[in-house]
Amino acid sequence: MKNFWKKLNKPILALAPMAGYTTSSFRQICKYHGADVVYSELASATALNFEGKKTLKFLEFDKSERPYVVQLFGNDPKYFRNAAKFVSEKVKPDGIDINMGCPAKKVFSNGSGAALMNNTEKARKIIIETLNGTKLPVSIKIRAKVGNVTAYKFVKKLNNLPISAIMIHGRSLKQGFTGAINYDQIKKVKSIVNIPVLANGGVNTPEDAKKMLDRTVADGIGIARGALTKPWLFSQTKEFLEKGEYQEFSFEEIKKATIKHAKMSYKSKGKHGIIEMRKYLIWYFRGFKNAKEARKKLVKVESVEDIRKNLNVFK
Ligand SMILES: Cc1cc2nc3c(=O)[nH]c(=O)nc-3n(C[C@H](O)[C@H](O)[C@H](O)COP(=O)(O)O)c2cc1C
Repeated sequence: MKNFWKKLNKPILALAPMAGYTTSSFRQICKYHGADVVYSELASATALNFEGKKTLKFLEFDKSERPYVVQLFGNDPKYFRNAAKFVSEKVKPDGIDINMGCPAKKVFSNGSGAALMNNTEKARKIIIETLNGTKLPVSIKIRAKVGNVTAYKFVKKLNNLPISAIMIHGRSLKQGFTGAINYDQIKKVKSIVNIPVLANGGVNTPEDAKKMLDRTVADGIGIARGALTKPWLFSQTKEFLEKGEYQEFSFEEIKKATIKHAKMSYKSKGKHGIIEMRKYLIWYFRGFKNAKEARKKLVKVESVEDIRKNLNVFK
């Protein structure tokens, strides 16, 4: 088995999975700005068994994204072997991840995502089936706590399974997406495994990243929403960890990075790629002066030129 996780320099900076956002062009832009590994959004293992071709479409990637991890979710172990096999053969990513942390009602209520932390037996079967379907390294993404089950308790019960990495969102299911990070839980998991542990949650600045690494002793971090406001957070974080300081991006640099993203998006999806850019523009220019006014125009852009023109309002 080729295991890319073993070859990555630490600390590993990962773009964490985000449904609707971690598209190929966004992953490319994060990779360009220093992400060491990027995740797809969650893909249904069940759908991959029944309407594989359609699901495959949004898992496609550019080789510049490698190492690229495809994330699967589902509640039925029997679909994971085929899904892992199908993805390995048709998409050819570098790794497969299993979602065990999603709180979304439609995922959680049918026993997928975070619900798996409350059902270790099923979670084990899902991991085993996935491992049986692929030679790629298999990782899991979990939460600090779901109900009474802590990440530590959960991982301890899985400890003899040959998984290759764990990303831990340091918040409980109850917390959802806000609130304090449980550094201790991540540290406790790190103390009982000898595979990369990536700490995730609330990293929006290079200082947050350093704090996370110091407190958890993790091998790396997963960045989600922080990358939506600043895909260049990865390179800034590397700079900060190496030199103790980093350069803020000037408006011109942000504009350049945005246009680059827009061109990639157009290249991969044509006009639809520009429509898709609209939601990123809102994130990139949040908090800028004139943001409210500009928003009305940014949600209507139809070309790279349109974007370029409208960004001048922020000057
Ligand atoms: C819009 C959005 C979509 C998400 N989609 C996924 C997903 O598909 N799979 C997953 O494991 N986590 C998903 N997450 C959770 C993130 O990967 C991450 O764990 C969470 O946002 C905390 O990290 P952050 O504080 O850096 O945003 C999503 C989060 C957001 C905000």
